[in-house]
Amino acid sequence: MSTETRPIDFVAAFSNPEAVAKYTEGPPRFVPGFTDLHRMTGILLAEHAPRDAKVLVLGAGGGLELKALAEAHPQWTFVGVDPAGPMLDLAKRTLGPLGERVELVRGYIEDAPAGPFDAATCLLTLHFLPPDERRRTARDIHARLKPGAPFVAAHSSFPQGPGERAQWLSRYAAFAIASGADPEQANGAKAAVAASLSTLSPEHDEAILREAGFSDVNLFFAAFTWRGWIARATVPK
Ligand SMILES: C[S@@+](CC[C@H](N)C(=O)[O-])C[C@H]1O[C@@H](n2cnc3c(N)ncnc32)[C@H](O)[C@@H]1O
Repeated sequence: MSTETRPIDFVAAFSNPEAVAKYTEGPPRFVPGFTDLHRMTGILLAEHAPRDAKVLVLGAGGGLELKALAEAHPQWTFVGVDPAGPMLDLAKRTLGPLGERVELVRGYIEDAPAGPFDAATCLLTLHFLPPDERRRTARDIHARLKPGAPFVAAHSSFPQGPGERAQWLSRYAAFAIASGADPEQANGAKAAVAASLSTLSPEHDEAILREAGFSDVNLFFAAFTWRGWIARATVPK
C-alpha cells in the first residue's frame, strides 16, 4: 500500500459544527487509555514544574486535557492555543468555571505568547502536521519553555514499514468499534488517516523532538497507533 498522502484542511475539519458537537465522544473511543494519558501527563509535568506552573497547551481545542490538568493541579494556569475557533468555543464550555485559569488563543504556535512557560503539552495534534511543520512547531514550543521545563507530546505514531501501516490502522479502527464507535465512522476515520496523514514511525517522531532542541526524550505511552513522550527543554551550557 502506498504511504503517499494528499493534503486535507484539518483546521476546516475541526471547524465543522457537526464534528465539533460530537468531538468529546471521539478521543476516549479512538485512543486506548485516554483518561490515563491525561493523568500521566499531569504527573510527568509536575515532576519538573513548580506548584504554580504556567503551562502552554498547543492544540487545546475541545478543552479535554485542559480540564483534566486544571482539575488535578489547582495552582496551575494555562495558555491554550488552537487555530479552530469552534474547538476553542467547545474548550470554553468544557472548562466551565475552570476557564478562569485558562487564556485561550486562536492561532498557531507563532501566535502563542513568548512565555517563558514552566511546561507544555501537545496532545493528539502533531500527527496532523507534515514533518517539516512538525519540526518547526516543536522548535517553537521549545523556544517558549524555560530551560529544563518538561514537555509532553502524544499523537498517532506507529511502524510505517511495508504492510505495517495498514495493519496498525485496521487495529486503530477495530479498537474504536470495540469501544462503541459507529463502524462506519471508525472505518471512515481509518480511511482519512490512511489517505491524508503523514504518520511517522516512533523513531522518526522522537528524532524530530531531539532536532527541535529537546533533551531526555523518553517514551512513556504506547497503545496501538499512539505514542507519548516526555522531554525536557535543553539547558544551555
Ligand atoms: C484531535 S484534536 C485534539 C484536541 C485536544 N488536544 C485533545 O486531545 O482532545 C486536534 C486539534 O489540533 C488543532 N490543530 C490543527 N492544526 C494545528 C496546528 N498546526 N497547531 C495547533 N493546533 C492545531 C485542531 O484545530 C484540533 O483542535
